[in-house]
Amino acid sequence: MVDNTGTVTETDKAAGAGKDTGNNGEDNRTARRDLAVRAAVAQGLLTEADPVVALLDVAGIRASAAALHEAFAAVTAPDTPVLHAFAVKAAPLVPVLRLLRDEGLGAEVASPGELGLARAAGIPPHRTVLDSPAKTPGELREALSLGIAVNADNPQELTRLDALLHEAPSHSPIGLRVNPQTGSGSIGALSTATSTSKFGVALRDEGARTQVVRAFLDRPWLTRLHTHSGSQGVPLALMAEGVRTVHELAEEINAAAGRQQIDTIDIGGGLPVNFSSDEETPTYADYARLLKSTVPGLFDGRYGLVTEFGRSLLAKHGTVLARVEYAKSAGGRAIAVTHAGVQIATRTVYNPESWPLRIAAYDATGRPKDGPDVAQDIAGPACFAGDVLATALPLPLLEQGDLVGALDTGAYYFAHHYAYNSLARPGIHGFTVTADAVRFASVRTPQTVAEIVAESGGGDPEALVRE
Ligand SMILES: Cc1ncc(COP(=O)(O)O)c(C=O)c1O
Repeated sequence: MVDNTGTVTETDKAAGAGKDTGNNGEDNRTARRDLAVRAAVAQGLLTEADPVVALLDVAGIRASAAALHEAFAAVTAPDTPVLHAFAVKAAPLVPVLRLLRDEGLGAEVASPGELGLARAAGIPPHRTVLDSPAKTPGELREALSLGIAVNADNPQELTRLDALLHEAPSHSPIGLRVNPQTGSGSIGALSTATSTSKFGVALRDEGARTQVVRAFLDRPWLTRLHTHSGSQGVPLALMAEGVRTVHELAEEINAAAGRQQIDTIDIGGGLPVNFSSDEETPTYADYARLLKSTVPGLFDGRYGLVTEFGRSLLAKHGTVLARVEYAKSAGGRAIAVTHAGVQIATRTVYNPESWPLRIAAYDATGRPKDGPDVAQDIAGPACFAGDVLATALPLPLLEQGDLVGALDTGAYYFAHHYAYNSLARPGIHGFTVTADAVRFASVRTPQTVAEIVAESGGGDPEALVRE
């Protein structure tokens, strides 16, 4: 148990918080999460003023980074250059990027803001990759001057790069993104390898392949191919098929060039996350093995490798903890009105079928709640009826003052604030469970009302009425 200072007691140690239980670490992770929830209450992180907080499990993030390295090390030839570039969009938080840097990862960035975060975290240019479908000349110029790897999206961008490289030579490795057009996964909005996707050069369109080969032959500095088939919902086999298509293209280009012009293949990210239990499946090892059997030539040492995983590195390690402000019922349905809603779980609220979230029930002291399951709606604080995290979810009946934990929210959730109702961005705390305490470190402070007013034009209320 955790006493009121957040210290771990003997009962908790026995629950396995600090020990490896022998499975993939899921039991450990669940135990750490429950300890952190109790400690967050005991240490006063959740208050009337801050009724919602986000928690990040530092040990879990480290374990995922290690699993990623191991999975690809197990299938690549010795001395193959491999860069695992974390997709910053999944958790745009400087301390998280720094943690991942320390775990040997680089960064995949897709905007000046993301590049700024990666640089603030100390990720060096040679471990940074710029992908975005709409890079401006200024962004490209900056990336080229820093030596950041750039994946061009389309022929117009290649023409732009021709001009920029003519202006000033660069050490940046430069690639071209291709869309293998292998098809959609279960979430259309996140499927990037459809026949009409906005990303990359659509490889199966008439004449496209020939044009791509020509583009490489005309540009000796173009040395990489890039693909990313989608993010969540794309079956592993389809992802692997996309990589196979791109490897085949690399071989064709190298044969046409009569040299190993393409030296690196960037396979993107997209490993799906299991949002229905604590189990981490599929694993990086599953995917790496599948890639090795589908595209053996990618791993024979002739190609360097870049990966861009995001969700799979962070999702399982984040929890949103929110107070139940009121418990009520309507039409026979129990409703817990909490402080976690659309501002935090935007995708879930607007598209619950594609993005269901698990919810854990805790009592006011942060202990898992017992009792018979009752179908309840877990509602958020925003002023529209659809602002619910879960509908008719069977859980022990929540009461006023209890807590809900929105699980698996470490990627693309609490770091992606949606400012509906001018609801404040919650604070984010990283936690570490040691043998006798849970220690929190502030990753992002909660947004204040003064900050909301200031960034909403509060500095010049007269702007529209001044003569
Ligand atoms: C080009 C690119 N790479 C990597 C990613 C990360 O995908 P995931 O978070 O699913 O691993 C994305 C996500 O949109 C992407 O667009």
